[in-house]
Amino acid sequence: MTLRAARTSDVRAIADLHATRIDEGFLTSLGTSFLRRLYARVLHSHDAFIVVDDLDGVTTGFAAGVADLGALYRRFIVRDGLRAGFQAAPRLAKNVSRVVETLRYPATTGDLPEAEVLAVAVAAERSGHGVGQALVRGAIDEFVRHGIRTAKVVTTADNFAALAMYRACGFVIADGVEVHAGRSSEVLVWTA
Ligand SMILES: CC(C)(COP(=O)(O)OP(=O)(O)OC[C@H]1O[C@@H](n2cnc3c(N)ncnc32)[C@H](O)[C@@H]1OP(=O)(O)O)[C@@H](O)C(=O)NCCC(=O)NCCS
Repeated sequence: MTLRAARTSDVRAIADLHATRIDEGFLTSLGTSFLRRLYARVLHSHDAFIVVDDLDGVTTGFAAGVADLGALYRRFIVRDGLRAGFQAAPRLAKNVSRVVETLRYPATTGDLPEAEVLAVAVAAERSGHGVGQALVRGAIDEFVRHGIRTAKVVTTADNFAALAMYRACGFVIADGVEVHAGRSSEVLVWTA
């Protein structure tokens, strides 16, 4: 497997992987155009990164991380909010409570680290071969490169593959949260 930093040309594949592989969280429900805009913003943020798995020129997995998720969302709203919101307007209108839950969540994590693994996804046909773990280790390397010594990740409590992957990379369960009402999640923390 070849891991490398994402490029602008990867954004479409990253958004597609998110849309097809991640059913938790409401970002998926906002559609791939919205996700493309969000990941383009992540890619061009100095305090965020995306690592991809490149299999003979095909982007088959990614891990995205950010130093401060609240700050990223605020920047996204200021710079992309109007266009992104316009594209996703019908879906946003149907999901107002989930929008509020998602935007409020970074402010509810108390003493937990600000830095966060935003998302990790591997194409179904590539799953189970250690790509997810390699991507998470690549994300940890990026955190360290950015001078970050601790980071968190949130995943639903029934996502056993993700929990096993994060644990294998040194994350430990620190807390339980309900990002979206009625669906329990685990917060895992990695410390260098
Ligand atoms: C989670 C995901 C990224 C893992 O990618 P992957 O390349 O398959 O992961 P790996 O091959 O590195 O395996 C990770 C661990 O999970 C374990 N695992 C895989 N499927 C599992 C399952 N259904 N139940 C329990 N453990 C499982 C593997 O055995 C491995 O643990 P091990 O090394 O101790 O054997 C991938 O399944 C995926 O894209 N899922 C959908 C998106 C998602 O849920 N992302 C995480 C939340 S943002």
